[in-house]
Amino acid sequence: MKLGLRTRHCGDLRAADIGQLVTLAGWVSSRRDHGGVIFVDLRDHTGTTQAVFKPDVNPQAHKEGDQVRDEYVVAVRGRVTAREEGNVNPKIPTGEIEVLVESIELLNPCKPLPYDIHHLVDERLRMTYRYLDLRRPEMQANLRLRAKAAHAIRNYLEGHGFVEIETPILTKATPEGARDYLVPSRVNPGTFYALPQSPQLFKQILMVSGFDRYFQIAKCFRDEDLRGNRQPEFTQVDLELAFTSIEEIRGLIDGLMAKVFQDTIGVNVATPIPAITWKQAMAEYGTDAPDMRYGLKLVDLTDLVKDSEFKVFTQAVKAGGLVKAIRVPGGGVLSRKDLDELTELAAVYGAKGMAWVKRNPDGWQSPIAKFFTAPQQLAIEQRLELAEGDLVVFSADQFKIVHDTLANLRKDIARRLNLIPPNVYKFVWVTEFPLLEWDADEKRNVAVNHPFTAPMDEDWSLAGTTPLAMRAKAYDIVLNGTELGGGSLRNHNPDIQAQMFGLLGLNDQQAQEKFGFLLGALGHGAPPHGGLALGLDRLIMWLVGTESIREVIAFPKTQKASCLMTDAPSPVEEKQLRELHIRLRKSE
Ligand code: AMO
Ligand code: AMP
Repeated sequence: MKLGLRTRHCGDLRAADIGQLVTLAGWVSSRRDHGGVIFVDLRDHTGTTQAVFKPDVNPQAHKEGDQVRDEYVVAVRGRVTAREEGNVNPKIPTGEIEVLVESIELLNPCKPLPYDIHHLVDERLRMTYRYLDLRRPEMQANLRLRAKAAHAIRNYLEGHGFVEIETPILTKATPEGARDYLVPSRVNPGTFYALPQSPQLFKQILMVSGFDRYFQIAKCFRDEDLRGNRQPEFTQVDLELAFTSIEEIRGLIDGLMAKVFQDTIGVNVATPIPAITWKQAMAEYGTDAPDMRYGLKLVDLTDLVKDSEFKVFTQAVKAGGLVKAIRVPGGGVLSRKDLDELTELAAVYGAKGMAWVKRNPDGWQSPIAKFFTAPQQLAIEQRLELAEGDLVVFSADQFKIVHDTLANLRKDIARRLNLIPPNVYKFVWVTEFPLLEWDADEKRNVAVNHPFTAPMDEDWSLAGTTPLAMRAKAYDIVLNGTELGGGSLRNHNPDIQAQMFGLLGLNDQQAQEKFGFLLGALGHGAPPHGGLALGLDRLIMWLVGTESIREVIAFPKTQKASCLMTDAPSPVEEKQLRELHIRLRKSE
């Protein structure tokens, strides 16, 4: 029996359709036999409809309907009828009706399922059978929302004069701080392309070429340690503008965020998005990606405790470090066990301990109370604005350890005490990043952002004396404590760019070899320009409300950067290696 094309979708039949003869096609979600009457939930991308097979309507169809199993692909033809009183299902949009099947066509059977695809927790199985996993309505919704967001982004950027231009995937390395993925060249023995870590240099060159405003929804590749919100290949909304300013770029992105959140999840983003400097972010939150949904700011107590009797604090200060604390309003309710767990967490970030104070009605309850005189305690209380029932946690060490520790304690305490309001989206711009940082492994200064970022004009004079004190014309956009995107104004002056390479320890010859084409382009009439890239996957994670980047990517990779469905990466034949002029080392 050939049913021809479907006439309706499985999710759109309603009471108003009762009486109509329809053809539906889709997957069998479940099949139940109720005393000779067979019920099949038929699913397509729009939803499910209950199809009913009764022996008296068509014995042949009933017999065939009895043969179908989960995930068979079928088409059915039948009449839309009202469900009997007790069978109405208010939980689904098609719950008032069912289709009384007159004929059925089996389009394709399905082997026994490797697992219950609608109730699975094992992510490795889900990734191995991704074609089944993506049938789940949740995954369908995530990827459709992703498409909707991309559409809103294109729409907005095109409306603001941006031109979408593709840049190469087989290219030369662009440094963004990760390792490159390399592709060997067959026709140029012994040479390699690098997959782009971002389209950074091409987009700058497009500015030199006069495109004025460029954007691309671009695949980027980075061979780096993979954590919750990182993938080896991911997608950026990448953009660049000529003749622009930080204010203009921020304004455009503010508008873009407002548009995307409105169009996809109906959330109103308050603009302009506020900004804080990197220095302030570090001082108050201990991180360059602060979560602004709750308080718990860091407070510096160094000057108040440096002359106390507590050696841990005084020695940290003497060694050039500092002592900071977080006041946790109402934190006195945390148990001894909570405090022990927090101390363990602090240790993960290098802290040698976590002193704490509970402000009880009768004063300090604390392992360190005895080291502080009454006036010292009072001064600390006043600085912290401490109240009865509060908790204080302390960290004393070098700048990095103190801030890493307190930033992570802050997050953990907020979660423990349920201080994070649900469904709230707090954006913040972090500006005036440092230009350079010391890389202890490489024993040289490296760019905090990338080597093409311009220094702040007023700081350029520090290049010769205290280069690490220079700030950059760089900015990140942060949402609820995650870095969503970042960018900068660039060095359009080739001399400044060449000097910048010098600060990074590249001599002229090395700079020419790696970036000669960029210096060449900058020397041929480069307009002032700047831009930014947003992590599209991370943005979608927030829109969907998931903590795993793999939930918003159709075919993601594991923590070990492999694709379990296709089994990539995998060995290749000797012949192919030979063509590529590659001989493998014996594995160690
Ligand atoms: P940056 O390196 O900060 O900037 O990257 C921009 C944004 O891309 C996202 N991102 C990632 N997402 C998923 N997996 C990854 N492995 C990953 N790495 C980065 C983040 C990040 O904020 N060319 C510059 C931008 C510019 O200067 O215009 C760049 O790539 O959300
Ligand atoms: P101790 O005198 O080493 O027993 O430490 C007393 C208290 O100070 C304990 O609660 C420790 O967890 C805490 N402590 C130790 N080192 C540090 C540090 N570097 N920063 C903050 N607190 C610390």
